[in-house]
Amino acid sequence: MKSPAGPTRWLLLLVTSLVTFCLSFPLWKDRDFLMEEEDAHRTGGNLVLGNWEQKLNEKLITLKEKEVAKATGQFPPSMHFFKARSLIDQSTVFSILKCMPKGAVLHLHDYAILSADWLVNNATYLPDCYICFTCLGTVRFKFSKPHPPSKVPPNCSKWVLLETYRKQVHNITEFDHSLLKNLTLVTDDPEVAYPTQAFIWKKFENAFLTASDLICYAPVFKAYFYQGLLELYKDNIQYVEIRAILPQVYELDGTTHNKSWSVVTYREVTRQFVKDHPDFIGAKIIFTAHRMLNISQIKEAIYTAMLLRAQFPDTLAGFDLVGYEDEGHSLWELKDILTIPYSLGVHLPYFFHAGETDWQGTSADNNVLDALLLNTSRIGHGLTLSKHPVARNLSRKMDVPIEVCPISNQVLKLVSDLRNHPAAELIADGHPIVVSPDDPSVFGAKGVSYDFYEVFMGIGGMNADLRTLKQLALNSLKYSSMQPEEKAKAEEVWQKKWNQFIADFSGVFPREL
Ligand SMILES: *[C@@H]1O[C@H](CO)[C@@H](O)[C@H](O)[C@H]1NC(C)=O
Ligand SMILES: *[C@@H]1O[C@H](CO)[C@@H](O)[C@H](O)[C@H]1NC(C)=O
Ligand SMILES: *[C@@H]1O[C@H](CO)[C@@H](O)[C@H](O)[C@H]1NC(C)=O
Ligand SMILES: *[C@@H]1O[C@H](CO)[C@@H](O)[C@H](O)[C@H]1NC(C)=O
Ligand SMILES: *[C@@H]1O[C@H](CO)[C@@H](O)[C@H](O)[C@H]1NC(C)=O
Ligand SMILES: *[C@@H]1O[C@H](CO)[C@@H](O)[C@H](O)[C@H]1NC(C)=O
Ligand SMILES: *[C@@H]1O[C@H](CO)[C@@H](O)[C@H](O)[C@H]1NC(C)=O
Ligand SMILES: *[C@@H]1O[C@H](CO)[C@@H](O)[C@H](O)[C@H]1NC(C)=O
Ligand SMILES: [Zn+2]
Repeated sequence: MKSPAGPTRWLLLLVTSLVTFCLSFPLWKDRDFLMEEEDAHRTGGNLVLGNWEQKLNEKLITLKEKEVAKATGQFPPSMHFFKARSLIDQSTVFSILKCMPKGAVLHLHDYAILSADWLVNNATYLPDCYICFTCLGTVRFKFSKPHPPSKVPPNCSKWVLLETYRKQVHNITEFDHSLLKNLTLVTDDPEVAYPTQAFIWKKFENAFLTASDLICYAPVFKAYFYQGLLELYKDNIQYVEIRAILPQVYELDGTTHNKSWSVVTYREVTRQFVKDHPDFIGAKIIFTAHRMLNISQIKEAIYTAMLLRAQFPDTLAGFDLVGYEDEGHSLWELKDILTIPYSLGVHLPYFFHAGETDWQGTSADNNVLDALLLNTSRIGHGLTLSKHPVARNLSRKMDVPIEVCPISNQVLKLVSDLRNHPAAELIADGHPIVVSPDDPSVFGAKGVSYDFYEVFMGIGGMNADLRTLKQLALNSLKYSSMQPEEKAKAEEVWQKKWNQFIADFSGVFPREL
């Protein structure tokens, strides 16, 4: 068939476009309104930015768009963190996030606060440090004077004085690097090195075991915590809540301390740190027990938690269970134990890890609902929450936030491309969340800035902006277990830092950006 030509063709075109226009118009008439409505739902969607904040916001968005456009095939949030980290370190967005006052870090474990380099370069160089080598290719440590008793950890060689041992290794840099590898999961090819979740959890717990040998030595315990607070402080964090197992801390002569001693020490070190850094607010401890312990041990831990809470109401925030959730006890299995405080009329706040799993309909998955029924104050991870509309509504109604730890979830193989992290949906819906690093030192991260980067660039997507970031910082203070007057002070300190941050970054800004 011949196509129409000349005037006929023009007429036809005109008619077609008119028809298209008239038909489609009603479809689009609500588009702007609907998009605005979605925008208002998002985390931070209700915040109104001031003039300077808006200026910074525009710059941040422009920077994000540039970095995304530049990142063809190498978009850090969709890559494994071990491979993405060096790219993130070069990001201008990241350098701004580092300077942003981020408020509180609410999900962070006792022996993964401070970069592992410090343990290798400082702790293992202290006098009287002994090492033994296990048949699994890991190492264990012990400080002792005199020579430690012949008893060694399971499957370990004899104790060797590290100072002597170092004298005969042919390359100390290389040896120290191997020690560092015992303390983190970092490796060049994580997909190959860690085939399954169960496998990486084993490595993960070994790293904790090795670190705790060093950190449980009293002088290291104190120094580690002080240096850890310093690392957080330098990452512009104002307050922290630490999940702590409180294992026995020991002295050089073998005497040991109980859990009350550890809490007192955390409190003393925090006080000293705040004295040295008055713009840091403080730290609280959430006592944790391993969920693999047997029922009677967990029961004992609950009684200990109540005792510690009574002894240190200002320092001990509450109780949690840690460890690989797919394999350990579920909250439902422990329900008779976990309701003991309630039946005694004692208020023991809970901060349960729940739903740190890819499975649905398993006991780990059900933990999310059970945590809420047990009146948890926050939910650690809660990756499965969006699969449960009723639990999700309950979490919102009870105003129980989800502690989102993106890098942890990726390294522990729960999600690979962070654009697909389940929290994307929670952010889109303005569900209460906070951002946390979980175990930064084990993942080769520092503070919480890397996690903020993943949220800002990946999980929150192109729509996340300065309002999102500000709301996340505000949330972190709001959902902390600080007392009202502590909270008011923290908010004041944070607001001042925020204003300074806005002033620093909105006005003078490198022209080439
Ligand atoms: C840790 O060790 C390094 C290298 O030996 C040293 O420069 C640094 O001052 C030490 N840091 C602390 C906090 O002791
Ligand atoms: C010691 O090693 C053996 C053999 O490798 C292993 O079966 C056992 O579980 C190990 N024991 C501990 C406590 O790790
Ligand atoms: C020790 O090993 C490191 C890292 O592999 C290497 O850079 C360094 O040159 C080695 N030093 C000596 C003295 O061989
Ligand atoms: C731990 O350190 C030992 C001693 O240097 C080394 O042989 C081993 O490979 C290290 N383990 C890991 C997981 O890197
Ligand atoms: C630790 O020992 C002290 C002093 O003996 C005691 O008052 C405290 O209750 C003990 N703490 C725990 C958790 O057992
Ligand atoms: C729990 O573990 C402890 C320590 O290993 C042991 O003494 C106790 O018998 C166990 N209790 C039960 C009920 O299995
Ligand atoms: C639930 O938790 C809130 C806040 O921590 C507390 O005020 C309340 O007493 C708790 N209720 C029960 C039944 O434990
Ligand atoms: C959850 O809450 C929303 C808003 O209040 C409501 O529309 C929805 O029906 C609830 N869903 C469930 C499963 O209860
Ligand atoms: Zn955790």
